[in-house]
Amino acid sequence: MTTDTTLNRSYTLEREQIPPTVVEQIEDDERAELTAKIKAQLKQQNAVMVAHYYTEPELQILADETGGYVSDSLDMARFGNESAAETLIVCGVKFMGETAKILNPEKRILMPDLEANCSLDLGCPADEFSDFCDAHPDHVVVVYANTSAAVKARADWMVTSGSAVDVIKHLTAEGKKIIWAPDKYLGDYVQKETGANMLIWQGACIVHEEFKGKELEALREHHPDAKVLVHPESPSSVIEQADIVGSTTGIINAVANIDAKEFIIATDTGIFHKIKESAPDKVLIEAPTAGKSATCISCAHCPWMAMNSLRKLTHVLETGNNEVFVDNEIIQKAKGSIQRLLDFTKEQSNKLAGDA
Ligand code: 13P
Ligand code: SF4
Repeated sequence: MTTDTTLNRSYTLEREQIPPTVVEQIEDDERAELTAKIKAQLKQQNAVMVAHYYTEPELQILADETGGYVSDSLDMARFGNESAAETLIVCGVKFMGETAKILNPEKRILMPDLEANCSLDLGCPADEFSDFCDAHPDHVVVVYANTSAAVKARADWMVTSGSAVDVIKHLTAEGKKIIWAPDKYLGDYVQKETGANMLIWQGACIVHEEFKGKELEALREHHPDAKVLVHPESPSSVIEQADIVGSTTGIINAVANIDAKEFIIATDTGIFHKIKESAPDKVLIEAPTAGKSATCISCAHCPWMAMNSLRKLTHVLETGNNEVFVDNEIIQKAKGSIQRLLDFTKEQSNKLAGDA
């Protein structure tokens, strides 16, 4: 193990920094009325919705019905970059809106709620991170997509959960030493998979951090044939029990493609909507989030993702409020780290297509 452990401060959030998970409750009549308004506004404004799998099912359905897109964070960035729409409505969290703006500065980017953040982003303040990078100038700086635009501007590479292992393998083959931020669990997983020399920032996702290894073991005893699918932001005690460790898209595809009936899923429950769409006959079981004496904080649903709602979406479309702006200098710098990943993943899929 070549990991340097000098970074021993924790960047996990205090309880008060985490909002409660509040899902908008709405009657059928109002839902129908808002949906009609949103559809009309999207058309009128040449706008499309780009939604993450963790947002509420009604937003995902609306995005699909109106020519928008529902995906993981990597494909959200790709779609926004390729779409001809003048306005992108990013239903997700802050870093997703910022990434869309960085890749499409000429487009108007709106979000239902600008307060929708992410514990990983909040746990990696740009100034402290920059000082840390300055102290290790011989390291390549790799940051997870779940970071602010300013942190991406300080990085050499941005990666997502679906691309992290491949990128780190590539850099390790070139003999590079790596600074990894901000997710300690994902960093640890990638380090184990690649044997890379990594300095790992100590942030965490408050949703995935709650999955519990011991309780998962007990659950598996009751479901011995179930396959275990885990997002790599989870603790190692949970990852170690996985049949598949994957991004949100990886998990959805695994349920559809693996010849099994039952699946235990360790990620945000927002993903169940898409899984049920593509594999309606499979049995989905939530991975346990809390032990007998504990209470869960997020209960497997991200409080910031839940801030996206039909009412707020209607409001931003009608008012133009909640536009995402990123400083021009930061856009120029951050674009390099994001584009490097998009070019890398394109090259990889071209290679795969050539080998086939
Ligand atoms: P994905 O890139 O797998 O969609 O993950 C984003 C995220 O925020 C997971 O918590
Ligand atoms: Fe961030 Fe976790 Fe929410 Fe994803 S689920 S946006 S990593 S807090």
